[in-house]
Amino acid sequence: METPRSLRVLLGVTGGIAAYKSPDLVRRLRERGAEVQVVMTAGASRFITALSLQAVSGRPVRQELWDEAAEAAMGHIELARWADAVLVAPATADFLARLAHGRADDLLTTLCLATTAPLTVAPAMNRQMWANPATVANVALLKQRGIGVLGPDEGSQACGEIGAGRMLEPGQLAELLMSQLGADRVLQGLKVVVSAGPTRERLDPVRYISNRSSGKMGYAIAQAARDAGASVVLVSGPAEIDPPTGVEFVAVESARQMRDAVHAALPGADIYIGAAAVADYQAPPAAVQKIKKTSERLKLELTRAPDILASVAGLASGRPFVVGFAAETENVEENARAKLARKGADMIAANRVGDDLAFDRDENSLIVLWDGGREEIPTCGKFELARRLVAVIARVRRATGRAGRTAAVPG
Ligand code: C5P
Repeated sequence: METPRSLRVLLGVTGGIAAYKSPDLVRRLRERGAEVQVVMTAGASRFITALSLQAVSGRPVRQELWDEAAEAAMGHIELARWADAVLVAPATADFLARLAHGRADDLLTTLCLATTAPLTVAPAMNRQMWANPATVANVALLKQRGIGVLGPDEGSQACGEIGAGRMLEPGQLAELLMSQLGADRVLQGLKVVVSAGPTRERLDPVRYISNRSSGKMGYAIAQAARDAGASVVLVSGPAEIDPPTGVEFVAVESARQMRDAVHAALPGADIYIGAAAVADYQAPPAAVQKIKKTSERLKLELTRAPDILASVAGLASGRPFVVGFAAETENVEENARAKLARKGADMIAANRVGDDLAFDRDENSLIVLWDGGREEIPTCGKFELARRLVAVIARVRRATGRAGRTAAVPG
């Protein structure tokens, strides 16, 4: 087994007055066992010297994208890969705007785009700047993308005003970040297969039967599992959103293709999470030519599609821990419990759907059920929901001993 190494935190410091607290933040992170590499923006160097941060971090501070000597030692892409977590504290209004817009106009923004490590920002600015609709929209966008936002706090500000905009204290920040990461790495070293999105059953070269699933929930789960330390294979039906970076992505269309791709990804998998809205019925093999409207009625005979979840749960050997979803319009818990038994899954995450609930929405809630247990995750953003679901899966999987390939087989 690999010797556990310390957690590597890339600390971005941007140009706000709160940057004077950065050396303390570095010390607090190091006290908790992290290795810290500081990257400063040009603005930050107006408030704090690289020398102080180098002294407390024990590593040369990186400031320039175009620094030949530093790039030769560790290029910016290598640096992005090096990090287990990126924390930007303080994060100014300007930095949040640049991050929200995907700019890569300095070393820090470039690293933020290039890294697959979880990214957290600790905003610090004047209260009016924090309340400005532009900042509010940027922060909402960042949260929607799964970027963690710690603070800001309320209180007296360097500018003499009182209100929201103070950076959280270094001790608080270090503790929140480290506990988040510690709790987050619950799937370290495991392999997780996630299926997501709708399936498409072709009728002819231009038509198909599908459903309203956006794939957002499944993609958020794949991202949360990745952040939790798992290697992730995401098998997805046609979705309009970009797959998360750092996961193996397999694009499919029909239920049958999804089943084949899931089973192909299963060898060595510890957990299977079936978040896809798989067709229950499939069309006959698609017509080669477009179906013409020659008669008043058209009869389509559909046949049952393969039940992927049940097929994984029924595997005689190499069976992973199996998690399914239940989208219900009524009697959510009762129906989901019945589904748990019927499908032979280890866990079912149930939500209420219908009209404008759940499908294609950014917020959702879940009731998670397993043999002898239940947990509710109240309404929150899909990324937060996914992170919390992943934590429940890891905990129940450990507790029930259904640990897939890494389980010790008794006797
Ligand atoms: O049977 P129902 O569609 O209500 O069950 C939902 C769960 O079963 C989801 O986890 C979904 O991904 C999975 N499922 C499947 N194959 C199907 C239908 C549903 O894997 N053909």
